Amino acid sequence: MNARSVILTGGAGYIGSHIAVLLIEAGYEVVIIDDFSNSSPAVIDRIEKLSGIRPQLVEQDLSVPDCVDGVSAALAGRGYAGVIHLAGLKAVGESVAQPGRYYRVNLGTTLNLLSIMEKIKCNNIVFSSSATVYGELNPPPVDESGKIGPTNPYGFSKLFNEQILADYAAANQGFQVINLRYFNPVGAHPSGLIGEDPKGIPNNLFPYIAQVAVGRREALNVFGDDYDTVDGTGVRDYIHVMDLAEGHLAALKFALEDHGGGVACFNLGCGRGYSVLEVVNAFAAASGKEIPVKVVGRRAGDIAEIVADAAQAEKILGWKTQRDLNQMCIDHWHWQEQNPDGFA
Ligand code: UD1
Repeated sequence: MNARSVILTGGAGYIGSHIAVLLIEAGYEVVIIDDFSNSSPAVIDRIEKLSGIRPQLVEQDLSVPDCVDGVSAALAGRGYAGVIHLAGLKAVGESVAQPGRYYRVNLGTTLNLLSIMEKIKCNNIVFSSSATVYGELNPPPVDESGKIGPTNPYGFSKLFNEQILADYAAANQGFQVINLRYFNPVGAHPSGLIGEDPKGIPNNLFPYIAQVAVGRREALNVFGDDYDTVDGTGVRDYIHVMDLAEGHLAALKFALEDHGGGVACFNLGCGRGYSVLEVVNAFAAASGKEIPVKVVGRRAGDIAEIVADAAQAEKILGWKTQRDLNQMCIDHWHWQEQNPDGFA
């Protein structure tokens, strides 16, 4: 049995690929389960290039109802330290338009994964949750005991997944769940070999700005400048994807210590907010490019400000962010400049 093996669902994606590199560098054997629905097979080559070892790949949509036996068979033959579960859909607007699909995919994937974990006798899961579970009910900064209230089906799918995992832990002694509530992941690996490559028009701020800087889009639409914030634009807690990936390793390490099972929940953020215009200025300085902006109306569902209280992760996991906004912009730009068309 090799308890240094880790299953990484969604491991070819933006966040997953960074976690894969760090896991391999830390000496884990990594098995990625991904269907490349929002990623590229080229990512696997890049992970190998960066870490020197090619992760095993199980190409599979985990939400497919009858995938459990096949995936369990593909994973059989060794022991697993744990699962890091990232696979799922994540576009807020799309989730409002297609709620059924979001619940089917995001909940179905977790339910199948739990059946697979039962078959392969793995008791530790680190789940990719989101700060979106807090909605807009809490004055910043919000800690893990903040009021819960998602505002869209994507956010509810994260919350429901947390509930499914909590119920599962309650029913299965020794089953350990760590929910990581991400704030806004940005940036890229310092090599520029892996990074965020959204399909179509980016929904999120950093990839949109990066595509303006590289000349793929004309100007950033700033969604509202009349919020009650420092300059009227939305304020978020941006976190470098390398810090976020390190947070997963810290969470896995914690899960592997014997806590007798149960659920723990951590915010992963910097604890500091930046406005849209502050990000634009920082990115312009880091890239040396002009970022034209156009103020347009508010985006439906947006909130004024959300910032993490990440003290719990520092206290319990011994983790805190190391990289500032300038580093996020430098690394995000480095990735975009070297890969103007992403992995294409
Ligand atoms: C959203 C989701 C979050 C999800 C994250 C990553 C909510 C409330 N937020 O975060 O759950 O995990 O995406 O997928 O459900 N902005 C612009 N112009 C743009 C894009 C964004 O002005 O073209 C502004 C937004 O209004 C916001 C800030 O930039 O103030 C950040 O937006 P974005 O990057 O989309 O992240 P969130 O909405 O915070």
